[in-house]
Amino acid sequence: MDKIVINARVATETDVFEADIGIRDGKIAAYSHHMPLDGAETIDAKGGLVVPGVIDAHTHMDFPFMGTTSADDFGSGTVAAACGGTTAIIDFILPKQSQSLLEALHDYRSRADPLVAVDYGLHMIFKQENLTELESVPQLVKEGIPSFKLFMTYRREGLMLDDKSLFKVMKKVGQTHGLVAIHAENNGIIENLVETNLEAGNFSAKYHALSKPSLAEAEAVGRAAHLAHAAGVRSYIVHLSSAYGAEAIEYAQSRGYDIFAETCPHYLVLTDEVYERPDGRNFVMSPPLRSKRDCASLWDGISSGSIQTIGSDHCPFNSQQKDYGKGDFTKIPNGVPGTETILPLMFSEGVRKNRITIFDMVRVTSSNPARRFGLYPRKGCLIIGSDADLAIIDTSKRVRLTADKLHTNIDYSVYDHITTEGYPVLVMSRGRTVMENGEFVGKKGAGEFLPRELEEDITLR
Ligand code: URP
Ligand code: ZN
Ligand code: ZN
Repeated sequence: MDKIVINARVATETDVFEADIGIRDGKIAAYSHHMPLDGAETIDAKGGLVVPGVIDAHTHMDFPFMGTTSADDFGSGTVAAACGGTTAIIDFILPKQSQSLLEALHDYRSRADPLVAVDYGLHMIFKQENLTELESVPQLVKEGIPSFKLFMTYRREGLMLDDKSLFKVMKKVGQTHGLVAIHAENNGIIENLVETNLEAGNFSAKYHALSKPSLAEAEAVGRAAHLAHAAGVRSYIVHLSSAYGAEAIEYAQSRGYDIFAETCPHYLVLTDEVYERPDGRNFVMSPPLRSKRDCASLWDGISSGSIQTIGSDHCPFNSQQKDYGKGDFTKIPNGVPGTETILPLMFSEGVRKNRITIFDMVRVTSSNPARRFGLYPRKGCLIIGSDADLAIIDTSKRVRLTADKLHTNIDYSVYDHITTEGYPVLVMSRGRTVMENGEFVGKKGAGEFLPRELEEDITLR
């Protein structure tokens, strides 16, 4: 063995057991009690909980959006990820205007490869203007990009696809056994409510939320689910935020559609009351935060299995960028940070508070994203032969999530009122320690690109 983690309590999707963990060549090589050390480097977990590293299938590093660019590049963003126990991300390629999809892929690779501190994969955003490039889909799948993001809103930002175009892209992706990830909000409702609010002189952050009601999400989730099923493609609804949205997912799943839903920690632990605060614009993201009842229904969805994954939708903007929308909520760049706080929040607010079990947590933060996005069992579990991507959680360590404790490149924290009980104290990426006691000890550029291949679809055949 190269390394042995001793005194570990290992948590999987189904079990918690005590063991020493042997690591060789960056992979899990053995479990046993009192493993002979034989000169291997020893890491004492001190009875801490060892979990598979989080797979955050929803990040936006260096993302050009709403007239600015998200504040973390692939370096700072993946350092933040590593420091919170996220050992793989899947980011979204946004092709520039008049850049082909394949050019955009190579552009992203050239920017990300030298900087990433943990392993990463990529999804492709497919915009209306890229419809002439449907024939590139099989090539992208061959290059390890089998998942395509489609937007049902953000028409003015040039991201939205109309229904006919959605259906066209879905059919093509289905033929290649790929997956569509969908931002589901009804654009018509949103544009009308935005106009009405601006005409009435309602400019503050709370009108962002009031212009994006949960029924706009529910309508689009239902439409996306039917369109994808009709097109014969598996689907994945990103950042589900509401009880109505969750009902639409459950309905589609009850009909046997191959549809997964992701929610984000901010929809589980924050509510729309924050929009009344003077710094309310720092909490502006789409869809917006909802009510306590919505949070409860999303936790229930995780427990019942209708919500399968947690992603962060990490898209941070610093307060100076958020200030672009001081007098007009439509100019606030949408997005919040999150990849570093998935594990602390899901453990402390979820497991510790008995909203979910430790098995639910491992399933939604790691195993399920790995399965859905073609990384399992290399990642998403700690079986013999899997990458040694893991986090050791000190289950009683208390950390207040203030900006100075976090590694993302922004000057505030949307969670600074929360003190977690339980925090990762050591994180490994392919057997290399990348975080120890709150400090990044890895290397930018040491992460690898993860070409992904999805299993041939069973339920759709
Ligand atoms: O507000 C958000 N979610 N910003 C990032 C882009 C997106 O819609 O996922
Ligand atoms: Zn989105
Ligand atoms: Zn997003």
